Amino acid sequence: MVTNTSLKTGAPSPPRHIAIIMDGNGRWAKARGLPRVAGHQRGVDALRGVVEAGQELGIDYLTLYAFSSENWKRPPTEVDDLMGLLRLYLRRELRELHRNGVRIRFIGEWRRLALDIVKLIEDAEQTTAGNMGLTLVIAVNYGSHSEIVEASRRIAAAVIDGSLTLDEINETTFAGYLYTVGIPNPDLVIRTSGEQRLSNFLLWQACYAELVFMDLLWPDFTKQSLEQAVDEFHRRERRYGATSG
Ligand code: IPE
Ligand code: IPE
Ligand code: MG
Repeated sequence: MVTNTSLKTGAPSPPRHIAIIMDGNGRWAKARGLPRVAGHQRGVDALRGVVEAGQELGIDYLTLYAFSSENWKRPPTEVDDLMGLLRLYLRRELRELHRNGVRIRFIGEWRRLALDIVKLIEDAEQTTAGNMGLTLVIAVNYGSHSEIVEASRRIAAAVIDGSLTLDEINETTFAGYLYTVGIPNPDLVIRTSGEQRLSNFLLWQACYAELVFMDLLWPDFTKQSLEQAVDEFHRRERRYGATSG
């Protein structure tokens, strides 16, 4: 007998992994006649509440899209501002996150960033590696296309050197070559600012994620906003290609 009501009704189980495209910092600043960097600063301020809300909601993984592989197209001064804020965030928040049992992981080509940022990232990952609470995944210099191409390249190299056979390449082994190895696929992807696109974010991993697009701008995102998105997630029926249960 099926006792789990979520199985009976088709209502989803609580999200284990929420991923967020934090968008709208520039528009938030523009609406106030402020420089774009002011929006990014307020965007960083919004992070603390969201991480806390994720912990309170009992989710296991929270992934935040902080800088895409295409964001290098922005003016150099804005790129510098964003990198400066990443530095500041890691310096300012690491201790508190560690104290709260948060495990930090980075995905993307972060090793190509400035050396001091690479060191801060390595330190954050190593310091928190043994923590058992929420896993906070930060996507920096991340793009799904380059992630998938890089995985393919490494798989080809493994076949050439004989450590992998063609028959061993399947969806599970392929996923093991992505930056997200060991991280379950997101159940829910949220994008703020009203834009309705993925912008090269988790294209492989979000194959069956529920997408929730919210009109508010990222600096205005609060704990309640996360709860609203999760409520919306609970109203969805996940079918994974099957018929309604
Ligand atoms: C999101 O806000 C932050 C990053 C992409 C780094 P934006 O800077 O994209 O803000 P809008 O979209 O211009 O309003
Ligand atoms: C996506 O936002 C990237 C991040 C939130 C880090 P963008 O603002 O860069 O995306 P587009 O350009 O509107 O698609
Ligand atoms: Mg944007």
